[in-house]
Amino acid sequence: MKQTNKKTAAAKPAQKTTISVIKADIGGYVGHSSSHPDVIELAKSMLGKAKQNKTIVDFCVTNCGDDLELIMTHRKGCDSKEIHGLAWKVFEAGTELAKKLKLYGAGQDMLADAFSGNVKGMGPGVAEMEIVERKSEPIIVFMGDKCAPGAWNFPLFKMFADPFNTIGLIIDPSMHDGFVFEVHDIKKDKNFKLSTPEEMYDLLVLIGSAENYIIKAVYTKKGEIAASSSTQKLYLIAGKYVGKDDPVLIVRGQSGLPAMGEILEPFAFPHLVTGWMRGSHYGPLMPTAQKQANPSRFDGPPRVIAAGFQVSDGKLIGPRDMFDDPSFDYARIQANQMANFMRQHGPFEPHRLPLAEMEYTTLPEVLKKLQSRMK
Ligand code: 13P
Ligand code: 13P
Ligand code: MG
Ligand code: MG
Repeated sequence: MKQTNKKTAAAKPAQKTTISVIKADIGGYVGHSSSHPDVIELAKSMLGKAKQNKTIVDFCVTNCGDDLELIMTHRKGCDSKEIHGLAWKVFEAGTELAKKLKLYGAGQDMLADAFSGNVKGMGPGVAEMEIVERKSEPIIVFMGDKCAPGAWNFPLFKMFADPFNTIGLIIDPSMHDGFVFEVHDIKKDKNFKLSTPEEMYDLLVLIGSAENYIIKAVYTKKGEIAASSSTQKLYLIAGKYVGKDDPVLIVRGQSGLPAMGEILEPFAFPHLVTGWMRGSHYGPLMPTAQKQANPSRFDGPPRVIAAGFQVSDGKLIGPRDMFDDPSFDYARIQANQMANFMRQHGPFEPHRLPLAEMEYTTLPEVLKKLQSRMK
């Protein structure tokens, strides 16, 4: 009898936790530099109610510059209509408030007129993963402002495929086999998987072009999810410039995955990303504490923040502000030096994006004006 009980207990599937990070720029304060505290408070109170009525297990609301970030845990899996609908409602209510305050670009990322079941393709950015919690489940949620979704390609490669960054790939037997990268061809809207270290060079040919190929997710060789990013590119969704997508990324760490320090280490180098000023310039990605993520100089330079959590039965124990650490001071100094260097190019490439990538481009009009004078 006892044994039967034991068997039934073992057969019960493990409870799953879904982490959904859904974000949108629904209005900047002031200009595109930050978010208004009243909008953040409104989002907190709405998600507080959703927690009370058990739609979600837990949440954290924050902002990276002018992007409102909803970090939620729940039991409903990825792409849940209920969870996406909840986020949409929060963004709608926030947009109303933003309009009242005449915040800048109120409702900037609300491209669709009505919610249709999933926020993907409607403007907001989404990164999600469904996991069976390990004995200890440390995660980091990265959030960017003034940068395009390809901004995570470089750090994700470093975390999961570069032994000069992640010594665990060499000395931890459970990581020694490497990882699988899911890459999204955003212009053709196709996905495929590449395995490292075997296909590392193939992977780099593609993801080195972060405007075309974006790492959507990383898996262990056993197929467990390790990282998940938002890959939406707003101007492709809308067919014209509307925003710069300012991406988010969820990464799990430790115990067969990169250590927290290996996950943060790539950001000690403020690599160049697109998305600065009018979405049309390259600039260094500066890692800062959340309270310093208010990009103001030339609307930048691009920012990344890192919220660390221990996930415990769906609860978000945190956030810990992972870049609030003097060990990232040098990256910030270097980013400022790089910003000076890039700024001195003014309107010249490669500070300004190549014409084909320029999101507020005036080229067609200029060419039209010059037509009659062309010989
Ligand atoms: P602890 O011994 O503090 O758990 O650290 C393990 C580790 O090597 C982290 O990089
Ligand atoms: P956001 O996408 O963060 O609104 O920035 C717009 C911009 O280009 C500011 O220069
Ligand atoms: Mg904005
Ligand atoms: Mg933004």
